[in-house]
Amino acid sequence: MNSNIHYAISGELHSEELGQLLQSVKMNAYSDEKRNRIISGSTAYVTARDAGSLVGFGRIISDGATLAYINNMAVSPQYQRQGIGQTILETLMRIAKDVTSIYLYTNTADALYIRYGFKLSEKRLYILRNS
Ligand SMILES: CC(C)(COP(=O)(O)OP(=O)(O)OC[C@H]1O[C@@H](n2cnc3c(N)ncnc32)[C@H](O)[C@@H]1OP(=O)(O)O)[C@@H](O)C(=O)NCCC(=O)NCCS
Repeated sequence: MNSNIHYAISGELHSEELGQLLQSVKMNAYSDEKRNRIISGSTAYVTARDAGSLVGFGRIISDGATLAYINNMAVSPQYQRQGIGQTILETLMRIAKDVTSIYLYTNTADALYIRYGFKLSEKRLYILRNS
């Protein structure tokens, strides 16, 4: 556990620093415009900072009752495996504690989500990709 990390819910966040973090973990960093929509349009997001620098992020989109979707979980490579992703996930799960189902997709950190009770879906999941 890294105790120097400061966590915030939907606190100050700039598109550029989010872009740099997503790029650092080789995730789609989107355009500046889309990142601003991620920041303003999410139900909530969690930031993790070390001395002011953004080192972790995760967000949730939800109707607050029936479903929630966790997305864009990212921890800067030098900060991985120190419990930051876990703390971000716990915070997002607390935000969605009254929601019937929480969804997420991962192809990298299955063990993290399994540890928190997520089950691999037996249902077919369809996606229409516009871009
Ligand atoms: C996935 C990610 C957000 C996890 O953040 P993190 O701060 O490294 O996670 P934690 O330190 O809290 O790890 C908690 C547990 O998750 C699992 N885990 C984390 N990263 C993992 C990885 N890359 N591969 C397999 N398991 C992983 C482990 O079980 C870990 O526990 P352990 O360290 O005791 O073995 C981070 O590794 C990341 O940004 N990865 C690249 C981007 C990515 O794939 N994002 C999509 C995730 S849905």
